[in-house]
Amino acid sequence: MKRAAVLFVCLGNICRSPLAEAAFRREAQRRGLEVEIDSAGTGSWHVGHPPDRRAQAVALRHGIDISGYRGRQATPDDFRRFTHIVALDRANLADLQGLRPADATAELLLLLDAVEGRQGKSVADPYYGDDADFDLTWADAVAGAKGLADLIEGQFQSRSSGRSPG
Ligand code: 4NP
Repeated sequence: MKRAAVLFVCLGNICRSPLAEAAFRREAQRRGLEVEIDSAGTGSWHVGHPPDRRAQAVALRHGIDISGYRGRQATPDDFRRFTHIVALDRANLADLQGLRPADATAELLLLLDAVEGRQGKSVADPYYGDDADFDLTWADAVAGAKGLADLIEGQFQSRSSGRSPG
């Protein structure tokens, strides 16, 4: 069966999408879910940059080192490479709809579409905020990661520890 591949996309790829990537990597590992995971920005300002120091700090408070992540910009080819492209907010979703090529195969959704009761909502941009805002971003990333893992398990049934036919 085809393997899931998930790309998280925000504006800068230094705050929200790296945290979503980190939370989902941990969630997938805990579940034994075989999935390729990456993140990108719709903008190009932070290409090659590590995550914002406040994003690095909140991840580290939860035991995850994201200092090695590097920013990149989303491309039309991502819509063929990934099975799920997950926008952090509605502006990112609109920008991605504009980038989507005619032969896209990826499913495009909002992170919080995977969270019961929060469908259609944006993860707030913490860039001009403080550590408390990054704590909220982390909480949204964790909730989104769990919901998305449930969704993908339902679609792919690809737990590495799970049963296989025959
Ligand atoms: P992110 O946050 O989209 O969550 O990575 C931002 C990072 C940088 C900028 C805006 C938002 N910026 O304007 O440079």
